[in-house]
Amino acid sequence: MEKLSGKKNTAVLISGRGSNLRSLVKYSKTKKSLIRIVLVVSNNFSAKGLDYANKSNINNVFIKHSNKKSFEDRLLKLLKKNNVDLICLAGFMKILSGSFIRKFNKPILNIHPSLLPKYKGLNTHNRAIQNKDNYSGATVHIVNEKLDSGKIILQKKVKILKSDSGKSLEKKVLKIEHKIYPRAIIKLLASD
Ligand code: GRF
Repeated sequence: MEKLSGKKNTAVLISGRGSNLRSLVKYSKTKKSLIRIVLVVSNNFSAKGLDYANKSNINNVFIKHSNKKSFEDRLLKLLKKNNVDLICLAGFMKILSGSFIRKFNKPILNIHPSLLPKYKGLNTHNRAIQNKDNYSGATVHIVNEKLDSGKIILQKKVKILKSDSGKSLEKKVLKIEHKIYPRAIIKLLASD
């Protein structure tokens, strides 16, 4: 596929609902967007985000993750075919190998629903509430071989209220996620 001048060809990897995918698509359609979403990949056939990509006429592919090597080999081929310059993980529930990251050799971003380095992994909201934290938030970071551990590009906090449950906190943080993912992309690419 041919590259539009100035815009980075972007692939979004998902596993489920795809609300961050939606926010990225919305951003990609703005006048000043620095990205063009050329590919959506899911390891989950039933991901809601795939339906959304379909409806939005975005090239989308389900790749079965029966083993990491075969998944990543197929993914790399697709990324190459579509001239992808940037990968955004958006609720993608698999860990990419070091070998994949080195072979792709271009930026990979992830969004995580906590103030990293706090609460890597799952169940971040309940953990923050159980620990009586005053704040939670969301983080966009570069992906490296270790889970939720790469360089932080952007982070935004939200106050945890006494009345918050895991669910209500998740809602608040998700709103922030939708705002900061596009901003983090701008920040990353502006420094290019
Ligand atoms: C988000 O909270 C994201 O931070 C985490 O998984 C969730 C995915 O939600 N990695 P969605 O699929 O983007 O709606």
